[in-house]
Amino acid sequence: MSTLGPQAGLAPALDRAAKAVEQTLEVVLPKPHGLHSRIHEAMRYATFAGGKRLRPFLVMECAALFNVDEAHARRTAAAIEVLHTYSLVHDDLPCMDDDDLRRGRPTTHKAFDEATAVLAGDGLLTIAFEILADAKTHPSAEVRCKLITRLAEAAGADGMIGGQMIDMVAAERSFGADEVMLLQRLKTGQLFEFSCEAGAILGEAGPAEQERMRQYAADMGLVFQITDDLLDVTSTAEKAGKAVGKDQEHGKATLVSIYGIDGAREKARQIADRAVAALAPFGGNGAALRDLLPFLLTRES
Ligand code: IPE
Ligand code: IPE
Ligand code: MG
Ligand code: MG
Ligand code: MG
Repeated sequence: MSTLGPQAGLAPALDRAAKAVEQTLEVVLPKPHGLHSRIHEAMRYATFAGGKRLRPFLVMECAALFNVDEAHARRTAAAIEVLHTYSLVHDDLPCMDDDDLRRGRPTTHKAFDEATAVLAGDGLLTIAFEILADAKTHPSAEVRCKLITRLAEAAGADGMIGGQMIDMVAAERSFGADEVMLLQRLKTGQLFEFSCEAGAILGEAGPAEQERMRQYAADMGLVFQITDDLLDVTSTAEKAGKAVGKDQEHGKATLVSIYGIDGAREKARQIADRAVAALAPFGGNGAALRDLLPFLLTRES
């Protein structure tokens, strides 16, 4: 029997987080200026394109569990969102997934050009760390250092980038379910883990609470990525805001290719129940994070 319940409070919470992070992004991203203004335009084009802002939502909700100052949570949310956006800009490049559509409009290399897209990604990646290093993100230098270290680990060669590398070689290998889940834990799970753990770090919570947030995020991230793979098979470009049918076209092993559509859905449901269980100690305060799971299981974009 599933422990997943109704999701009435989720939409306003997602909306609040999106608005809050967009206001902060408007402030922290440079306005076009100087001879190099094209880079600022491309960074803003990629960022202000109406993504779901799920990672900012996670930062804000998890930070609220630890009574973090909202201004600190917002800046941390902005840092992870620009880093995520960089990963999308590079993921879409012709040398990677070669996609023309992202967040419902032309990818950055289509709207600008390839070199500008590479540089815009580099600029977004770099500014993420600049945002975290600023004393406005947290008065404690130790907390800021911890955020920077964790984001570097989550996004780096043994984190998201490692996952992208496995994804690139996936077409030439035959992967089992464990290998696919490792790929997903790295490629998408790591940034979700950082987003949730960041709340505990900002709130200077103990290691056990940081670990609990990572556990929730790891399972939530798997549910998210299994659904992404399902959408690649079951959705349309119009609904998803990005090309679909690409995983099969590129021969990429996913849990959908291994278990089939129904099997992958069932697997996602089981993992979602485990994610919800990790939130039990937070009681009613974890409601929005709990409600995220049924939303992820049924999302269409
Ligand atoms: C898409 O992430 C890329 C993956 C990690 C699968 P999202 O689905 O969160 O993308 P946006 O931010 O809403 O556009
Ligand atoms: C992208 O995964 C993950 C990262 C950008 C790190 P996908 O290649 O599956 O994402 P989509 O489907 O293009 O959004
Ligand atoms: Mg990819
Ligand atoms: Mg892609
Ligand atoms: Mg995908």
